[in-house]
Amino acid sequence: VSNAGGLGILGGVDREPDELIAEVGRIRALTDRPFGVNLVLAKCSAEQWEACFSLRPSLINTSWGDAAVITDRAHALGCRVLHQVNTTAGAAAAVAAGVDLIAAQGSDGGGHVGSVSTLALVPQVVDVAGEIPVVAAGGIADGRGVAAALALGAEGVLVGTRFLATFEAAITDGWKAALLASPAERAVISDIPDLVWGTDWPGATGRVLRNRLIAEWEAATAADVTERAAEIATAIDAARVAGDLDFVPLWAGQGVGLLREVVSAAEVVRALVAEAEVVLRERLPRFVPGDHEGALATASASGKAVNRV
Ligand SMILES: Cc1cc2nc3c(=O)[nH]c(=O)nc-3n(C[C@H](O)[C@H](O)[C@H](O)COP(=O)(O)O)c2cc1C
Repeated sequence: VSNAGGLGILGGVDREPDELIAEVGRIRALTDRPFGVNLVLAKCSAEQWEACFSLRPSLINTSWGDAAVITDRAHALGCRVLHQVNTTAGAAAAVAAGVDLIAAQGSDGGGHVGSVSTLALVPQVVDVAGEIPVVAAGGIADGRGVAAALALGAEGVLVGTRFLATFEAAITDGWKAALLASPAERAVISDIPDLVWGTDWPGATGRVLRNRLIAEWEAATAADVTERAAEIATAIDAARVAGDLDFVPLWAGQGVGLLREVVSAAEVVRALVAEAEVVLRERLPRFVPGDHEGALATASASGKAVNRV
């Protein structure tokens, strides 16, 4: 991603400090461009944070918690902080924490999300963020989404699900095939994975593909799932070993319905930018008065319907 002109972010939440250090070493062998490391404030240990700081990535990407606990240290080490929020209150806290960038993540996204959609959340976060640049996240899987994010006031986008369907993504081929076969409505909100694993992320819920795991347990109460958590977790582990993706949580956002093929991560970056440029240059100018005003007036005078906003 970084070599293609994006800013690649390594997910660190499930990596032990040694693994985090090894993975960042691999990234540095592959690129001299900026990259980021993501840690989840509500989940990560002091050891994970120490490993992250020792690596001094260009960007530290935080989520789910108060970024104030790391911003001073990050800045002293020369790292910028991108904090992901899901509410305007979270955005205000991120401003107070002194972060450098804010990601406004709408509930359309994959993984852990809040309750407000990207379309509604991004401009509201932009209003709170003031001078701090905002990137939009959630449901953005092609250049039309990028252009829409810019229209909402974002300076860029943070994309997850689209990068799952890439050669480089470290998920199974079966998961990638499931992504390509899934319409948007299959990416549902579910607390089942968090209940099974006893994860407590305040304000967060999960968005996953609705498979047999979700279908079998979605009607159960939270108390029932919690009571049977050990048994379900064992069944998930067994399914994973057997390669049965129907009983494994498959995180994905609603943009999944736009995925058509598995390509390289660099191709995704290039396509997002190229498609957005076409929308901005060719599609959107039609909707504002300008050089083409005469053409609209002519069309109107000749009795044709004129589409204007
Ligand atoms: C498989 C998957 C894993 C994710 N893991 C994390 C994570 O570890 N930390 C985090 O802050 N966000 C995580 N996210 C959320 C992303 O940072 C991002 O907000 C989201 O993917 C944007 O929505 P999209 O998936 O529609 O592009 C994850 C998303 C997915 C799909």
